[in-house]
Amino acid sequence: MSDTGHDTPHVPGPSLWPIAFAIGVACLLLGLVISWIVAAVGAAIAVVAGFLWARDVTHDVRGEVPSIEPETRTVGDSASTGAIAAVPVDRPLPAYTRSRFLEASTLGVGAAIGAIVTLPVVGFMVLPAFTDVEEDEADLGPIENFPESEYVIASYLSNPSAGEVTRRTAFVRNNGQTDAGEPSFTILYSRCVHLGCPVQPNGPIDEEARQELENGVELRPVLAQSFGCPCHGGLYDAEGNRQAGPPVRSMDRYTFSIRNGRLVLGELYAVGNVSGTGASAQISRYPWSVPGTHVDGVEAWLYPIVPSQVTG
Ligand code: FES
Repeated sequence: MSDTGHDTPHVPGPSLWPIAFAIGVACLLLGLVISWIVAAVGAAIAVVAGFLWARDVTHDVRGEVPSIEPETRTVGDSASTGAIAAVPVDRPLPAYTRSRFLEASTLGVGAAIGAIVTLPVVGFMVLPAFTDVEEDEADLGPIENFPESEYVIASYLSNPSAGEVTRRTAFVRNNGQTDAGEPSFTILYSRCVHLGCPVQPNGPIDEEARQELENGVELRPVLAQSFGCPCHGGLYDAEGNRQAGPPVRSMDRYTFSIRNGRLVLGELYAVGNVSGTGASAQISRYPWSVPGTHVDGVEAWLYPIVPSQVTG
């Protein structure tokens, strides 16, 4: 008599995990373009679905581990003593069909490709958190050094202990006071927001009035009505708004504080657009981003994510 339990071929039941895995990978890749949050959700879906898929695929193999002691059955030895003897009985090893093998191979290759695609990107995301260099706050000296409504080119060391390599330039204009009586300064970062070339003020520099302060700060008054980038012809107006050329947003700005009558630079931030001028300007402010990155409008969604980098 045949053992019907082993004659029936094993047909794996339909599983939705491969579909969920594919959806997760698609979300992950889409998220790398439009949003880190979507990428994180996609990665979570892919990992969970992949794990459950792998568990399904290997279920039969994992579920029938051969026992250490072989199974035995008792049979009568009627030819001799009539005693009952135990004999080992062979059990078939769990079947690992070709379809199972192909399914597991597909899962493994998919996981390897996913890792190759995502690990470099994740590295770019995570690594800067461990490599970014802390920059000191820059004290640009007494606010009397900044005449009202005039730009001053301020050159300073963002990390004095690291030396001249950390020298930065900002264009500083004292706007007087806001309607609320607060001091107002426009402080533009000289780095072009196209590809990062040094932007120059369009106007004569008063080298006679150049000042060197004790902490490596240099101040040079300039008659600037606009700013230009020599690399690809980028042009910005006196508020830092893009006027022409390839830059994708307005010039970056610094926050500032006044401490004991001295102007201290704060953090950099990105600017979408500036309407109005001076102390009454309305500034579309965004978290700082590397040159070439859109910060507002449809482009901010469509433009690929640029790996983070230090502000240098
Ligand atoms: S880097 Fe300034 S216009 Fe290209």
